[in-house]
Amino acid sequence: AGATAMADVPKLKQKDKYKVGFAQTESNNPWRIAQTNSMKETAEKLGYQLVYTDAAGSAAKQVADVNSMIAQGVDLIFLAPREEKPLIPAVMAAKKAGIPVILLDRSVDPKLAKAGEDYLTFIGSDFIKEGQRVAEWLVKNANGKTKIIELEGTTGASPANDRKKGFDEAIKAAGGFEIVASQSGDFARDKGRQVAEALLQAHPDADIVYAHNDEMAIGAISAIEAAGKVPGKDILVLSIDGGKEAVGLVVDGKIGAVVECNPRFGPKAFETMARYAKGEKIEPKLINDDKFYDSSNAKAELAGAY
Ligand code: AHR
Repeated sequence: AGATAMADVPKLKQKDKYKVGFAQTESNNPWRIAQTNSMKETAEKLGYQLVYTDAAGSAAKQVADVNSMIAQGVDLIFLAPREEKPLIPAVMAAKKAGIPVILLDRSVDPKLAKAGEDYLTFIGSDFIKEGQRVAEWLVKNANGKTKIIELEGTTGASPANDRKKGFDEAIKAAGGFEIVASQSGDFARDKGRQVAEALLQAHPDADIVYAHNDEMAIGAISAIEAAGKVPGKDILVLSIDGGKEAVGLVVDGKIGAVVECNPRFGPKAFETMARYAKGEKIEPKLINDDKFYDSSNAKAELAGAY
């Protein structure tokens, strides 16, 4: 390949069966497990070999996982980059090795790598919109509550950056609210509980918790109850992900609203790969549809939640 060819995403040959890599970021929550299951089920249906790795929450391990897939000669790599910057070398190494990369659910820093050039495309939710949808619901349903504790996702991860941006800007534009504290709970239940506990102590007048995912919202509910307060009454809890447990907590009145982050990636991921192999032009972003749950629909929708 000459200098011009290096500017393009590596090509993918049309084949009956592929050997495909899926570099997952961690498996510590139902969302990740649902995403992994969707990828594995679709690969199995197609009869493709799936080289699956779990970075166990380490960006360094995820880079090593991608390098190992390159060494194993996979045809294409699906990558769910844990953080926006540290996974850039993995994207570039795959490109250099002639292996196309599709980013799943999380993105990389757009200043350092480009869709249609360094990687093929991004498939996932619009995280800014997810944050905005939570804020829009809050503006209509706050009932006089105004003081917000924000539990952020993993520092440096695109959903943490964008869910914060979408929510904070919409809340600021609406006026009348105050984000009294905003801290990372690393998208994890126990970390979310610990951070919520400390922030509730530091801000006893806080009456809203906005968590960037269900796991931290569920952790925050434990912290609220341990502080002798009632989630859903004294403190309004808002979340993103829409797993069964969280939708059940909406039914119970402990969570006010949840925006779904759709984890069912398998069909769209493999269909995009096939379209690319056929020579179709692939859009730089393929955005998933997300549902929305609050008391008006949570009971009816519970069975369909992942
Ligand atoms: O990238 C999507 C986010 O990652 C989900 O909201 C979260 O639960 C997961 O860890």
